Amino acid sequence: MATSTQNELKRQAAEAAVDLIKPGMVVGLGYGSTALHAIRKIAALMAEGRLWDIVGVPCSVWTEGEAHRLGIPLINLDLCTAIDLTIDGADEVDPELNLIKGAGGALLREKMVAQATKRQVIVVDESKLSPRLGTHFDLPVEVVPFGSGASARFITGLGAQVRLRRDTTGAPVLTDQGNYLLDCTFGPISNLSALAAALESRAGIVEHGLFLGLATDVLVAGTTGLSHLHRKAQA
Ligand code: A5P
Repeated sequence: MATSTQNELKRQAAEAAVDLIKPGMVVGLGYGSTALHAIRKIAALMAEGRLWDIVGVPCSVWTEGEAHRLGIPLINLDLCTAIDLTIDGADEVDPELNLIKGAGGALLREKMVAQATKRQVIVVDESKLSPRLGTHFDLPVEVVPFGSGASARFITGLGAQVRLRRDTTGAPVLTDQGNYLLDCTFGPISNLSALAAALESRAGIVEHGLFLGLATDVLVAGTTGLSHLHRKAQA
Protein backbone atom coordinates (compact mmCIF):
# COMPACT_ATOMS: atom_id res chain seq x y z
CA MET A 1 0.00 0.00 0.00
CA ALA A 2 1.44 3.37 -1.05
CA THR A 3 1.88 5.91 1.75
CA SER A 4 0.72 9.50 1.26
CA THR A 5 4.38 10.55 0.98
CA GLN A 6 4.99 7.96 -1.69
CA ASN A 7 1.88 9.07 -3.55
CA GLU A 8 3.04 12.68 -3.39
CA LEU A 9 6.44 11.65 -4.81
CA LYS A 10 4.69 9.76 -7.61
CA ARG A 11 2.70 12.90 -8.39
CA GLN A 12 5.84 15.06 -8.49
CA ALA A 13 7.62 12.72 -10.90
CA ALA A 14 4.57 12.39 -13.14
CA GLU A 15 3.89 16.12 -13.30
CA ALA A 16 7.55 16.85 -14.11
CA ALA A 17 7.24 14.47 -17.06
CA VAL A 18 4.17 16.31 -18.32
CA ASP A 19 6.35 19.43 -18.61
CA LEU A 20 8.18 17.61 -21.46
CA ILE A 21 4.99 17.47 -23.57
CA LYS A 22 4.64 20.07 -26.32
CA PRO A 23 1.42 21.06 -28.12
CA GLY A 24 0.70 18.83 -31.12
CA MET A 25 2.36 15.73 -29.68
CA VAL A 26 1.05 12.18 -29.81
CA VAL A 27 1.46 10.99 -26.21
CA GLY A 28 1.48 7.43 -24.91
CA LEU A 29 -0.52 7.18 -21.70
CA GLY A 30 0.71 4.58 -19.23
CA TYR A 31 -0.98 2.50 -16.57
CA GLY A 32 -0.81 2.58 -12.79
CA SER A 33 -1.04 5.04 -9.94
CA THR A 34 1.95 7.15 -11.08
CA ALA A 35 0.86 7.36 -14.72
CA LEU A 36 -2.60 8.41 -13.53
CA HIS A 37 -1.11 11.58 -12.04
CA ALA A 38 0.31 12.40 -15.49
CA ILE A 39 -3.00 11.70 -17.22
CA ARG A 40 -4.82 13.98 -14.77
CA LYS A 41 -2.25 16.76 -15.25
CA ILE A 42 -2.44 16.54 -19.05
CA ALA A 43 -6.23 16.78 -18.87
CA ALA A 44 -6.06 19.75 -16.49
CA LEU A 45 -3.60 21.65 -18.72
CA MET A 46 -5.78 20.96 -21.76
CA ALA A 47 -8.88 22.16 -19.93
CA GLU A 48 -7.04 25.36 -18.96
CA GLY A 49 -5.89 25.92 -22.57
CA ARG A 50 -2.22 25.58 -21.57
CA LEU A 51 -1.73 22.42 -23.68
CA TRP A 52 -3.50 21.71 -26.98
CA ASP A 53 -3.63 19.40 -30.00
CA ILE A 54 -2.68 16.42 -27.84
CA VAL A 55 -3.72 12.92 -28.86
CA GLY A 56 -3.25 10.08 -26.37
CA VAL A 57 -2.44 6.43 -27.06
CA PRO A 58 -3.64 4.38 -24.08
CA CYS A 59 -1.62 1.43 -22.70
CA SER A 60 -4.61 -0.42 -21.23
CA VAL A 61 -8.38 -0.61 -21.19
CA TRP A 62 -8.30 1.09 -17.77
CA THR A 63 -6.13 3.93 -19.12
CA GLU A 64 -8.47 4.37 -22.06
CA GLY A 65 -11.43 4.74 -19.69
CA GLU A 66 -9.67 7.25 -17.43
CA ALA A 67 -8.37 9.38 -20.32
CA HIS A 68 -11.74 9.32 -22.07
CA ARG A 69 -13.50 10.34 -18.85
CA LEU A 70 -11.05 13.25 -18.43
CA GLY A 71 -11.61 14.44 -22.01
CA ILE A 72 -8.24 13.58 -23.59
CA PRO A 73 -8.67 12.75 -27.32
CA LEU A 74 -7.43 9.22 -28.03
CA ILE A 75 -6.13 7.26 -30.97
CA ASN A 76 -5.69 3.51 -31.20
CA LEU A 77 -2.15 2.17 -31.65
CA ASP A 78 -3.38 0.56 -34.90
CA LEU A 79 -3.85 3.99 -36.47
CA CYS A 80 -0.82 5.67 -34.97
CA THR A 81 2.40 5.74 -37.00
CA ALA A 82 4.61 7.21 -34.26
CA ILE A 83 4.28 8.24 -30.64
CA ASP A 84 6.32 11.31 -29.70
CA LEU A 85 6.54 10.70 -25.95
CA THR A 86 5.09 8.16 -23.52
CA ILE A 87 4.79 8.61 -19.77
CA ASP A 88 4.54 5.36 -17.82
CA GLY A 89 5.40 3.99 -14.39
CA ALA A 90 7.60 1.02 -13.49
CA ASP A 91 7.99 -1.45 -10.65
CA GLU A 92 11.77 -1.57 -10.59
CA VAL A 93 14.48 0.50 -12.34
CA ASP A 94 18.15 -0.51 -12.51
CA PRO A 95 21.17 1.80 -13.00
CA GLU A 96 21.10 1.23 -16.82
CA LEU A 97 17.40 2.26 -16.85
CA ASN A 98 16.22 -1.27 -17.56
CA LEU A 99 12.85 -1.94 -15.98
CA ILE A 100 10.51 -4.50 -14.51
CA LYS A 101 6.94 -3.60 -15.38
CA GLY A 102 3.62 -5.37 -15.19
CA ALA A 103 2.57 -5.44 -11.55
CA GLY A 104 -0.63 -3.88 -12.88
CA GLY A 105 -0.89 -6.56 -15.54
CA ALA A 106 -0.70 -4.29 -18.62
CA LEU A 107 2.83 -5.22 -19.66
CA LEU A 108 2.01 -6.36 -23.21
CA ARG A 109 0.25 -3.19 -24.32
CA GLU A 110 2.75 -1.09 -22.34
CA LYS A 111 5.63 -2.69 -24.22
CA MET A 112 3.91 -2.33 -27.60
CA VAL A 113 3.36 1.37 -26.94
CA ALA A 114 6.93 1.79 -25.64
CA GLN A 115 8.38 0.16 -28.76
CA ALA A 116 6.39 2.58 -30.95
CA THR A 117 7.61 5.58 -28.91
CA LYS A 118 10.45 7.98 -29.67
CA ARG A 119 10.91 9.16 -26.09
CA GLN A 120 9.90 6.80 -23.27
CA VAL A 121 9.72 8.69 -20.00
CA ILE A 122 9.40 6.55 -16.87
CA VAL A 123 8.11 8.16 -13.70
CA VAL A 124 8.79 6.64 -10.29
CA ASP A 125 9.27 7.42 -6.65
CA GLU A 126 12.69 6.57 -5.27
CA SER A 127 11.54 3.24 -3.79
CA LYS A 128 11.55 1.79 -7.34
CA LEU A 129 15.33 2.18 -7.80
CA SER A 130 17.21 -1.09 -7.57
CA PRO A 131 20.81 -2.21 -7.97
CA ARG A 132 19.63 -5.23 -9.96
CA LEU A 133 16.22 -6.11 -11.40
CA GLY A 134 14.43 -8.83 -9.47
CA THR A 135 15.80 -7.66 -6.12
CA HIS A 136 12.50 -6.16 -4.96
CA PHE A 137 9.83 -7.35 -7.42
CA ASP A 138 8.64 -10.52 -9.09
CA LEU A 139 8.82 -10.61 -12.86
CA PRO A 140 5.32 -10.79 -14.38
CA VAL A 141 4.97 -13.02 -17.43
CA GLU A 142 1.83 -13.08 -19.58
CA VAL A 143 0.94 -16.55 -20.89
CA VAL A 144 -1.94 -17.97 -22.88
CA PRO A 145 -4.35 -19.95 -20.68
CA PHE A 146 -3.84 -23.10 -22.80
CA GLY A 147 -0.97 -25.03 -21.27
CA SER A 148 -0.29 -22.35 -18.67
CA GLY A 149 0.91 -25.07 -16.26
CA ALA A 150 3.52 -26.12 -18.83
CA SER A 151 4.59 -22.49 -19.24
CA ALA A 152 4.91 -22.22 -15.46
CA ARG A 153 7.07 -25.36 -15.34
CA PHE A 154 9.29 -23.99 -18.10
CA ILE A 155 9.89 -20.81 -16.12
CA THR A 156 10.49 -22.82 -12.95
CA GLY A 157 13.21 -24.58 -14.93
CA LEU A 158 14.81 -21.18 -15.54
CA GLY A 159 15.22 -20.81 -11.76
CA ALA A 160 12.09 -18.98 -10.59
CA GLN A 161 9.36 -19.69 -8.11
CA VAL A 162 6.19 -19.21 -10.13
CA ARG A 163 2.68 -18.28 -9.03
CA LEU A 164 -0.44 -17.85 -11.13
CA ARG A 165 -1.90 -14.42 -10.34
CA ARG A 166 -5.40 -14.77 -8.89
CA ASP A 167 -8.09 -12.28 -7.92
CA THR A 168 -9.81 -12.08 -4.52
CA THR A 169 -12.24 -14.87 -5.51
CA GLY A 170 -9.37 -17.19 -6.39
CA ALA A 171 -10.00 -17.00 -10.13
CA PRO A 172 -7.05 -16.36 -12.45
CA VAL A 173 -6.57 -12.67 -13.24
CA LEU A 174 -7.15 -12.04 -16.94
CA THR A 175 -5.18 -9.44 -18.86
CA ASP A 176 -6.75 -7.06 -21.38
CA GLN A 177 -6.05 -9.81 -23.94
CA GLY A 178 -7.72 -12.52 -21.84
CA ASN A 179 -4.42 -14.15 -20.90
CA TYR A 180 -3.03 -15.28 -17.53
CA LEU A 181 -0.21 -13.72 -15.54
CA LEU A 182 2.57 -15.68 -13.84
CA ASP A 183 4.43 -13.83 -11.09
CA CYS A 184 7.97 -15.20 -11.12
CA THR A 185 10.38 -14.79 -8.22
CA PHE A 186 13.88 -14.93 -9.67
CA GLY A 187 15.68 -12.82 -7.09
CA PRO A 188 18.36 -10.49 -8.47
CA ILE A 189 18.69 -11.33 -12.18
CA SER A 190 22.30 -11.59 -13.34
CA ASN A 191 21.79 -11.86 -17.11
CA LEU A 192 18.76 -9.86 -18.22
CA SER A 193 19.13 -10.34 -21.97
CA ALA A 194 19.63 -14.12 -21.63
CA LEU A 195 16.49 -14.43 -19.49
CA ALA A 196 14.51 -12.26 -21.91
CA ALA A 197 15.67 -14.38 -24.85
CA ALA A 198 14.77 -17.62 -23.06
CA LEU A 199 11.27 -16.38 -22.26
CA GLU A 200 10.76 -15.06 -25.80
CA SER A 201 11.80 -18.43 -27.26
CA ARG A 202 8.93 -20.33 -25.63
CA ALA A 203 5.55 -20.79 -27.32
CA GLY A 204 2.72 -19.97 -24.93
CA ILE A 205 4.61 -17.07 -23.36
CA VAL A 206 3.07 -13.93 -24.82
CA GLU A 207 5.29 -11.28 -23.17
CA HIS A 208 7.37 -10.62 -20.09
CA GLY A 209 7.89 -7.59 -17.88
CA LEU A 210 11.57 -6.98 -18.64
CA PHE A 211 11.80 -3.66 -20.50
CA LEU A 212 15.41 -3.59 -21.68
CA GLY A 213 16.79 -0.51 -23.44
CA LEU A 214 13.36 1.06 -23.87
CA ALA A 215 13.39 3.90 -21.33
CA THR A 216 15.09 7.05 -22.61
CA ASP A 217 14.44 9.06 -19.45
CA VAL A 218 13.57 8.22 -15.85
CA LEU A 219 12.22 10.88 -13.54
CA VAL A 220 12.73 9.89 -9.92
CA ALA A 221 11.08 11.80 -7.11
CA GLY A 222 12.66 11.42 -3.69
CA THR A 223 12.43 13.12 -0.34
CA THR A 224 15.50 15.21 -1.26
CA GLY A 225 14.23 16.27 -4.69
CA LEU A 226 13.71 15.23 -8.28
CA SER A 227 16.34 13.51 -10.46
CA HIS A 228 16.22 13.27 -14.25
CA LEU A 229 18.16 10.22 -15.45
CA HIS A 230 18.99 9.79 -19.16
CA ARG A 231 19.85 6.54 -20.90
CA LYS A 232 23.50 6.50 -21.85
CA ALA A 233 24.26 6.23 -25.58
CA GLN A 234 25.25 2.68 -26.59
CA ALA A 235 28.95 2.29 -27.46
C1 A5P B 1 1.39 -1.73 -14.98
O1 A5P B 1 1.25 -2.92 -15.64
C2 A5P B 1 2.78 -1.52 -14.47
O2 A5P B 1 3.76 -1.72 -15.41
C3 A5P B 1 2.91 -0.17 -13.82
O3 A5P B 1 3.50 0.76 -14.68
C4 A5P B 1 3.73 -0.34 -12.61
O4 A5P B 1 3.17 -1.40 -11.87
C5 A5P B 1 3.83 0.93 -11.77
O5 A5P B 1 2.67 1.10 -11.03
P1 A5P B 1 2.51 2.28 -9.97
O6 A5P B 1 2.79 3.55 -10.71
O7 A5P B 1 1.08 2.16 -9.53
O8 A5P B 1 3.48 2.04 -8.87
